[in-house]
Amino acid sequence: MNAIEVRELSKMWTPSAGLQPTSLTCAAGEMLVVRGRSGSGKSTLLALLAGLCAPDSGSATVDGLPPGGDMPWARVAFVPQVLALAVELSVRENIVDATTTLDPAAVRASLERLDLVEFANRCVDEISMGQQQRTALARAAIVQPRVLLVDEPTSFQDGGHAGTVIEELRRLAAGGTALLVATHDEAVSAAADRVVELSR
Ligand SMILES: Nc1ncnc2c1ncn2[C@@H]1O[C@H](COP(=O)(O)OP(=O)(O)OP(=O)(O)O)[C@@H](O)[C@H]1O
Ligand SMILES: [Mg+2]
Repeated sequence: MNAIEVRELSKMWTPSAGLQPTSLTCAAGEMLVVRGRSGSGKSTLLALLAGLCAPDSGSATVDGLPPGGDMPWARVAFVPQVLALAVELSVRENIVDATTTLDPAAVRASLERLDLVEFANRCVDEISMGQQQRTALARAAIVQPRVLLVDEPTSFQDGGHAGTVIEELRRLAAGGTALLVATHDEAVSAAADRVVELSR
């Protein structure tokens, strides 16, 4: 059983806009990139797999179960295109919030890997978008989830920090996480094990 299995999954928001029937699989330890022009349905696909909306047709399993339900973060973590951080909390609090067992050394290491040490105690609404985006990734990565769904993880990063993000994605894959990454960034695609293109 693949960590992610998608069979002819579709969701149309309007007669012409949404996700056309799409099939793919992603194994544990694999980083799969989903590409396609703006509006091709990448974020819709991730929202379906995160259980945030229901498909029109087709089926999917994520870590062996249909999307939705009460999937623990350690099984399926999601970094949406709009980052959904708790803005009233600090960077460190957002990361710690995602863990069930507080391991200060692991939090510290995560802050270091994602170049967030300087901002760790700053409120999320007082840091840059790139820093917020790396915080959102840290919050997901801290639990080494079985499946990680990531939408445009380098969209707010400079070239150097895009490399930082890519290294973190590869580290997660090396640890056994199945990663489904929507991106327009050629550097992210180049780091993937496989790339699928959403046509339309
Ligand atoms: N909640 C919604 N209601 C109506 N239409 C929607 C909704 N969400 C997405 N759409 C439409 O569905 C299509 C696919 O959107 P989606 O966000 O999945 O694309 P995307 O491939 O992620 O694009 P981008 O590269 O710009 O992030 C778009 O035409 C979009 O306008
Ligand atoms: Mg999108």
